[in-house]
Amino acid sequence: MCGIVGYVGPQAAVDTVVNGLRRLEYRGYDSAGVAVVAGGRLHLAKKAGKLGNLEKELAEHPLPTSGLGIGHTRWATHGGPNDVNAHPHLSAHERVALVHNGIVENYVRLRGELEAAGLTMTSETDSEVVAHLVAQQVEAGARLDEALRTVCGRLEGTFTLVAVDSQDPTAVVAARRNSPLVVGVGQGENFLASDVAAFIEHTREAIELGQDQVVRITADAIEVTTFDGSPAEVRPYHVDWDLSAAEKGGYDWFMRKEIHEQPRAVADTLLGRYDANARLTLDEIRISEDELRSIDKIVVIACGTAFYAGMVAKYAIEHWTRIPCEVELASEFRYRDPIVGPTTLVVAISQSGETADTLMAIRHAQQQRARVLAVCNTNGSTIPREADAVIYTHAGPEIGVASTKGFLTQLVACYLLGLYLAQVRGTKFGDEIAAVMRELAAMPDAIAAVLDGIQPVLDLAAEFVDAPSVLFLGRHVGYPVALEGALKLKELAYIHAEGFAAGELKHGPIALLENDLPVFAVVPPKGRDMLHAKVLSNLQEVRARGARTVVLAEEDDHDVTPYADVLIRLPRVSTLLQPLVATVPLQVFACELASRKGHDVDQPRNLAKSVTVE
Ligand code: F6R
Repeated sequence: MCGIVGYVGPQAAVDTVVNGLRRLEYRGYDSAGVAVVAGGRLHLAKKAGKLGNLEKELAEHPLPTSGLGIGHTRWATHGGPNDVNAHPHLSAHERVALVHNGIVENYVRLRGELEAAGLTMTSETDSEVVAHLVAQQVEAGARLDEALRTVCGRLEGTFTLVAVDSQDPTAVVAARRNSPLVVGVGQGENFLASDVAAFIEHTREAIELGQDQVVRITADAIEVTTFDGSPAEVRPYHVDWDLSAAEKGGYDWFMRKEIHEQPRAVADTLLGRYDANARLTLDEIRISEDELRSIDKIVVIACGTAFYAGMVAKYAIEHWTRIPCEVELASEFRYRDPIVGPTTLVVAISQSGETADTLMAIRHAQQQRARVLAVCNTNGSTIPREADAVIYTHAGPEIGVASTKGFLTQLVACYLLGLYLAQVRGTKFGDEIAAVMRELAAMPDAIAAVLDGIQPVLDLAAEFVDAPSVLFLGRHVGYPVALEGALKLKELAYIHAEGFAAGELKHGPIALLENDLPVFAVVPPKGRDMLHAKVLSNLQEVRARGARTVVLAEEDDHDVTPYADVLIRLPRVSTLLQPLVATVPLQVFACELASRKGHDVDQPRNLAKSVTVE
């Protein structure tokens, strides 16, 4: 969490940094700040609340012109979201300004040391401690990068740090451990940021910084060293999306734009993954076919929405490969002493590739010698870098904090993985795999059809805008869809919403039913007759208690009509793939309802896009 920007070059640093922060605001929006070096001094502005507050402050009290600056947009961990705790933090004699993303776990001890030496802290943050420690080194004669290396050696926890020295108007210095940082390589200017979106309008050339590395950028040079001072190998890459992908393109919210991008995102994620005979070629899987044949267990780990993609993956993978597959919340995984070993494939699903819970879980799995495959949307992020193999989803940048196209493309990647394993292990015939691939190839059109007919869902959101509670039901792969529908509504509309396996209703939650309570139900396609019939029985139970049913069912399914107060039609697809179409109306419903409530859909309260703390 937290977005960080650093700039050095001929442009006005304040504007460049603030523009960068705007594109990183999805990472945290509790406060924002910027610092520049001019005339041998540091100049600082910071404000609680969204970036707009900082911009207002800068308009009223402009900072001096400078070609070097740093900025930060915060998701609060230590200390409340107020002006004082906002970053950048200054050292005691205003020699150093520093911004931080992450948590310094031993800060209480370090703070005690500094206070014993007579320093007074102005904020409650762990970050301010680091600013003082770095300044002590610089004041003793160290160059800023040297100082940062020394201090990083003393820090425990996760951090990206970016700092400037008031006495050096040529360089911005940064360090990273378990927290993201990329370098933007410009012409006569260079950038640092948590994410390439911050500098994509200036350059698409980037360098991913490795673990425990320090980088010093000037306008013309980039020096990368390890924490012990040796030169580090740099890994440049080209960003294959541009500014327009990171802009709203006429939509009111990034989330709405991203929902509508899903046909394209799904098509892009399928691109190049199979030949004319529907034989899958997953080039990025750097695990040999022999190793894949020796796998006797799959464990999917992920958080939040990505976890629900993992739940769908379990149904598909077990069905196609007959390999036992568990799904586990990444935040729980390593604390229960999981049984994994060299013949376990751990599949880590993460849109951002930076989720700390997931990262720590894969490290634990690797210590047990399991092979780790990442499903990830962010090139150059930590999780795919540390994994043994990766399937990149090609959703493009997901800016809205609530995941939408990230989820659908994770589903596609998991289907591809399941089918690939089935192909390698011979658990499905080629023509069976080809049939599913044909269906997957048709999915972009099916999703587009759902979006074309979305008006009734928008109307429904208007009708339910004051509903205090909404329930979601599903069975089989419809169950994770129900959970995802509820999560979207909770995080965006801030109302009580719960997803249940429809069969569980009678074991307790049925007590929640009352007159007019909206209950969404995902009805499986009719091909699975038992499953279909069971969901209809569950719907009957709901209706009998006066709740209002909103039924998502495939076109031509006339059996559902008597059970539906509102019917939302889905294209005909097979059961396992139904989440790709059934999730979309639920995303739209949550987006629209939250929008009508006047909430900030792209930046829901208390959340951040990339959760880099455990
Ligand atoms: C919900 C949402 C979160 C993320 C979760 C994992 O809309 O976006 O629940 O899915 O924080 O994030 P990633 O996929 O980046 O690991």
